[in-house]
Amino acid sequence: MTRQIIPVTPAAQQTAIDYRALDVERDHSGTLLDGLQRPLRDLRISVTDRCNLRCTYCMPREIFDENHTFLPRSELLSFEEIERLVRQFIHLGVMKIRLTGGEPLLRRGIEQLVEKLARLQTATGAPLEIALTTNAVLLARKAQALKEAGLKRVTVSLDGLSDVTFRRMNDSGIDVATVLDGIAAAQAAGLGPLKINMVVKRGVNEHEIVPMAEHFRHTGIVLRFIEFMDVGSSNGWCMDDVVPASEILGRIAGRFALEQVEPDYGGEVAGRWRYADGGGEIGVVASVTQAFCHECTRARLSTDGKLYTCLFAHNGLDLRDPLRRGENERVLTNLIAGQWGQRGDRYSQLRQEASAQPARKIEMSYIGG
Ligand code: GTP
Ligand code: 5AD
Ligand code: SF4
Ligand code: SF4
Repeated sequence: MTRQIIPVTPAAQQTAIDYRALDVERDHSGTLLDGLQRPLRDLRISVTDRCNLRCTYCMPREIFDENHTFLPRSELLSFEEIERLVRQFIHLGVMKIRLTGGEPLLRRGIEQLVEKLARLQTATGAPLEIALTTNAVLLARKAQALKEAGLKRVTVSLDGLSDVTFRRMNDSGIDVATVLDGIAAAQAAGLGPLKINMVVKRGVNEHEIVPMAEHFRHTGIVLRFIEFMDVGSSNGWCMDDVVPASEILGRIAGRFALEQVEPDYGGEVAGRWRYADGGGEIGVVASVTQAFCHECTRARLSTDGKLYTCLFAHNGLDLRDPLRRGENERVLTNLIAGQWGQRGDRYSQLRQEASAQPARKIEMSYIGG
């Protein structure tokens, strides 16, 4: 399929952005920086707040039951609105987009959004990287169309290999085979390198750490173990539920010799390791025990168009209202730049330092994982 590439004017040539008026910092190359000198590079977009699973750590069934009100369609950003905002984020330095949710494959016509975004280039002229995080329940059906629309790669959430453990984590009737079929379809469609995210919860799926490692060795798939985090107010988080990354690595190293690998890029959330025998790579996301806020370059756009500058933020800046009021590009870009410029978020770091516990946090299914 041939795709038309639409270059986006580099920030330096876009005279409309008045950084001085905003009192935001830039580095020597003109890159927008936040209050802690971090550039804006990565935008996660939640395209739906709905999900076909009910992972206990994310959308516990007691809260996300039949009485829970999800956002009505009119509240969701349309694909045109998302594309317009993405163009502004690109002006400000974003190089990578991750589509999340909820479950992004539940958003009707998601391929059309991918196609729109895949036509864009970053401010430096590089292709915009587009990835998607999914639970893979619908992936076998959608992988090929997503690839053709321009999606680069997918990350699949899978918390265990036995149906019993998997269902204990996702509280739904879906079996592991459905997810493995989705993974195989994504590999066949060329949506790699594939990554698998396994959230590890003490006493629930920790016994699956080594079997999961064994299963995904020699497949070219990168399995990443994730410390259970205190996202939102509904998952009943407690430090006793966290299996620290050091312990996860220790268990795997007890079975297979491991060697550390250099980070792929600045701000990468996962520590990288490889099997000494050439079995491939694994990752550990130690957001609880080794916070990585100092190099966090991620912004999040919620399903209804609010900009959050931290996974644990209480408030987001509404971008949908100015969009729908018909504000021009300059106003939108200035709003985003202003929000990023005053950003001082470092929640995980503060929690690690002082076990700080803010009152109410945002749900991950709404803001995007
Ligand atoms: P790539 O490196 O592009 O493959 O993706 P990624 O690792 O940046 O994204 P992914 O969404 O797969 O992140 C893996 C997990 O790390 C998430 O599911 C979260 O549990 C956690 N995580 C991602 N971003 C953040 C963040 O900004 N803060 C914290 N505390 N945790 C994060
Ligand atoms: N802790 C850690 N990771 C979480 N995710 C969702 N909730 C949590 C949590 N409480 C991440 C998982 C999942 C992705 C969609 O979001 O990695 O794969
Ligand atoms: Fe759905 Fe992913 Fe949340 Fe599980 S972690 S409930 S699959 S959005
Ligand atoms: Fe970034 Fe907030 Fe996560 Fe820290 S806690 S890494 S600032 S999203």
